[in-house]
Amino acid sequence: MLILNKTARMFSTPSKRKICEFLRSFHFHPGKRLFHKLVLGIETSCDDTAAAVVDETGNVLGEAIHSQTEVHLKTGGIIPPVAQQLHRENIQRIVQEALSASKVSPSELSAVATTIKPGLALSLGVGLSFSLQLVNQLKKPFIPIHHMEAHALTIRLTNKVEFPFLVLLISGGHCLLALVRGVSDFLLLGKSLDIAPGDMLDKVARRLSLIKHPECSTMSGGKAIEHLAKQGNKLHFDFKPPMQRAKNCDFSFSGLQHVIDRIIMQKEKEEGIEKGQILSSAADIAAAVQHTTACHIAKRTHRAILFCKQRDLLCQSNAVLVVSGGVASNLYIRKALEIVTNATQCTLLCPPPKLCTDNGIMIAWNGIERLRAGLGILHDTEGIRYEPKCPLGVDISKEVGEAAIKVPRLNMKI
Ligand code: KG4
Ligand code: ZN
Repeated sequence: MLILNKTARMFSTPSKRKICEFLRSFHFHPGKRLFHKLVLGIETSCDDTAAAVVDETGNVLGEAIHSQTEVHLKTGGIIPPVAQQLHRENIQRIVQEALSASKVSPSELSAVATTIKPGLALSLGVGLSFSLQLVNQLKKPFIPIHHMEAHALTIRLTNKVEFPFLVLLISGGHCLLALVRGVSDFLLLGKSLDIAPGDMLDKVARRLSLIKHPECSTMSGGKAIEHLAKQGNKLHFDFKPPMQRAKNCDFSFSGLQHVIDRIIMQKEKEEGIEKGQILSSAADIAAAVQHTTACHIAKRTHRAILFCKQRDLLCQSNAVLVVSGGVASNLYIRKALEIVTNATQCTLLCPPPKLCTDNGIMIAWNGIERLRAGLGILHDTEGIRYEPKCPLGVDISKEVGEAAIKVPRLNMKI
């Protein structure tokens, strides 16, 4: 689906004069560089304005990020025009900071890589318009990036990981399991049928008013749940993991969210408090929701590993599971996945937390991967559009469901 929001384009395109001024502000003298492939990555698909310069060996030469989390926490969620405005206000500064830190002059870049799918239309539009102006002025190639592909490939920047490997991407907007066979060669094994786990955790955190909690007021919903869960007892609530009878690798989180909503309402009545005040059982609820989420994610991932092993899709001597996306920074969920990888003799790898959430480095690195593979490098950007919705790879989730693999029960003592 190709969608171009005309309004977004009209407002977010920087003028030619502004881009020229911006480029003139760099006074670096091109030095002798050891590696000639240098990519500037730009990310604006959701609520982070981020940029980075990475070389072909994976050295991060410069990076900058502006997070909108605090603003969106106050409004109780992302309001797309607000996100768009904040991207517009910050993109030039962030790109400038990343380039200045890298000491790379724009003329030395091999290409500019920018997220163009999937994401919020208004947010994607800002990054794309800015990047198109930049590459047209610089006469450099443009590399359009799929946000989820970038999350999946980040591990190859930090670790020596060969294709194929299995990837679990869990964030605020996405939830999928895929087999990565190459830079742009993915088999989709399963995805969320409704909302993503980060979205569910954000909603639960908001319903629990954790923003008013002195220890959590600046944290994202998922992080606040993880923090509070440490003080709670998960056994005080018994939430059933979703989709227990569906023998596939799909996920679901909205049913769980509604069950928790009902429990919170009931507890508010019992404690005689108003909506908006913090329940005395908030930490126990956080611990139970985190546990149920971890078990659900672990079970689906376990089935995906067994499916890949059954079909001989993973490396036999060293099967690798990579977990990334904002929710992958959750250490409890990681421990649940560790139980699964230990039981299936797989290696579990996660990028460092900073690279699990949205950032410019992963976009620049995806640009390097594509440059090296000679894939999707555009010298003519005519007709390039952003795509708010875009699946990842070839969907074989039906085949996975038909295999109906029974997953042995594991002791989830986390
Ligand atoms: O990857 P990301 O930065 O943005 C996208 O959604 O693409 O992920 C943000 C999500 C939010 O929903 C946030 O609540 C969640 O990741 N998150 C966490 C943790 N840190 C961030 N969820 C669980 N535990 C965490 N520690
Ligand atoms: Zn993301």
